[in-house]
Amino acid sequence: MNEKILVSVAWPYANSPLHLGQVAGAYLPPDIFARYHRLRGNDVLMVSGSDTHGTPITVTAEREGIDPEDVIDRFHRSFLETFLGLGLTFDLFTHTDTENHWEVTLRLFNRLLERGYVLKQTMEALYCEECQRFLADRYVEGTCPFCGYEDARGDQCDKCGKPLDALDLIRPRCKFSGDTPVVRETEHFFLDLSQFNEPLKEWVATKDYWRTSVRNFSLGMLEEGLRPRAITRDISWGIPVPVAGYEDKRIYVWFDAVIGYLSASIEWAKNRGTPEAWLDWWAPERPARSYYFIGKDNTFFHTLIWPAMLLGYGDLRLPHDVPANEYLTLEGRKFSSSRNWAIWAPDYLSRYHADPLRYYLTTHAPESSDSDYSWAEFLAANNNELVGTWGNLAHRILTFAYRNFEARVPEPGELTIEDREILDTVAAAFDPVAADIEACRFRAGLAKAMAAAREANRYLDAAAPWKALKADRERAATIVYVTLRVVDSLNMLFAPFVPFGSEKLHATLGYEAPLFGTQEVVEYQETERRHLGLTYHGVEEGSDRWCPSDLQPGQALLEPTPLFKKLDEEIVAQELARLG
Ligand code: MF3
Ligand code: ZN
Repeated sequence: MNEKILVSVAWPYANSPLHLGQVAGAYLPPDIFARYHRLRGNDVLMVSGSDTHGTPITVTAEREGIDPEDVIDRFHRSFLETFLGLGLTFDLFTHTDTENHWEVTLRLFNRLLERGYVLKQTMEALYCEECQRFLADRYVEGTCPFCGYEDARGDQCDKCGKPLDALDLIRPRCKFSGDTPVVRETEHFFLDLSQFNEPLKEWVATKDYWRTSVRNFSLGMLEEGLRPRAITRDISWGIPVPVAGYEDKRIYVWFDAVIGYLSASIEWAKNRGTPEAWLDWWAPERPARSYYFIGKDNTFFHTLIWPAMLLGYGDLRLPHDVPANEYLTLEGRKFSSSRNWAIWAPDYLSRYHADPLRYYLTTHAPESSDSDYSWAEFLAANNNELVGTWGNLAHRILTFAYRNFEARVPEPGELTIEDREILDTVAAAFDPVAADIEACRFRAGLAKAMAAAREANRYLDAAAPWKALKADRERAATIVYVTLRVVDSLNMLFAPFVPFGSEKLHATLGYEAPLFGTQEVVEYQETERRHLGLTYHGVEEGSDRWCPSDLQPGQALLEPTPLFKKLDEEIVAQELARLG
């Protein structure tokens, strides 16, 4: 039976282009996962969008002296291009400034209010007398009360990951004027998380398959006890609060952003003319699984706040897994936009192809600890492994078959023990690679595929069909047949990771139907608004294609061209010179 798999991807703030740390942490893993499930014939719904509200957007707009709308528009377009370039197969990548998203957000807010999970409370908040405004979230910085980190923001400490209340900051300062704020009273709506502490404890207790760090962090927060959290702000940018007297306040960006997973699913269904279709992934009584791909700084919002909101609203599916990643460092140091210690995805894509990056970032996926991006290792991984081990194997055998066997898969003679062994070895990799991908261990899955490719190289070097060709053409034909099948199988194993090369190889092997569908940027028209989104058109195949090759003798091959390119050693020095 086809399974319904919801692939929820963190919503990037539309205030900067994406850097490779974000790609490694939250954007590439879900695409590997989604492509794998699509090959299995499962029904994947992969959604995300630009996060367009809150102080991250207004801080950028104020710094640049432009409107928030312009900031959003610029970076939303940038995301769409980056995702096309990286080959991320979003069924819908939208943003949070749609009528649909506002409607869904208000529906949740109102129901949680009606049910007594959202409460009005007077609170003290920081106010900057110089700027004449309340300082929430990113408008205020100070020292983290938990770990002592000096540049903690008003909403969260990036060092220890703890969510913060701006009032808890030690030595708070206004981000714009640098002044020390004063404390003033203000009224806000709070999500009463304390009512969900026990149900969430029970729920997290069942998640023994979560990553240890994610589970421990969540259990730790629940042990301490969740407190009510303000979900409105004294700012003028964001979704208006649907209550009289709140005209000058807005819904907190995190409250609406997590709702994006739901609203984007609903929007996707509307866009394709089947407005109820989203329920297949969200109705708890229907079989489905949902995965949330995020960086570790977002864990609290995905394992506790969003589940609390879903429990409070009712009738919606809770996350199955939240495989949060640790951080990627760059040449041994933290990514930092202000110090230009970063590789921007658009910049990368202007010089290199997506597959080497997808390959390298997966071999260095920060799944259980931080990992480091280094240009020297990127080069080595591309040249020695992706090109040297995998690409060359495919290219060698395809050119040989193309030239010497009339561009067709030759008819084999009897298979030797070695022939059977290599076919078996590669066939035996399908289950373990699948198990790794399904458990979100992408690094391990890719390593197993590459290990199988190494075996295949060993087989081909020993069998040496180029030697057999003159003396024993039938033996040469058998080796070519066996190797082509092996390569075809390996191509399936590699496909979720390096889809561009795999699609090309698949066509070269003579298959007419592609492995994957296509992506497209589409303009959507709502009643008043018009907006751009990215969508994916699948190949309409409900069958399981994740299985060893069944390549048939006689199949016509296309003229092979190299799948991947060797990179020049010089790029390492060039790229290092661009940093800092
Ligand atoms: N915009 C947030 C960030 O970049 C992530 C939001 S994820 C979602 O850290 F849950 F809100 F969708
Ligand atoms: Zn801290």
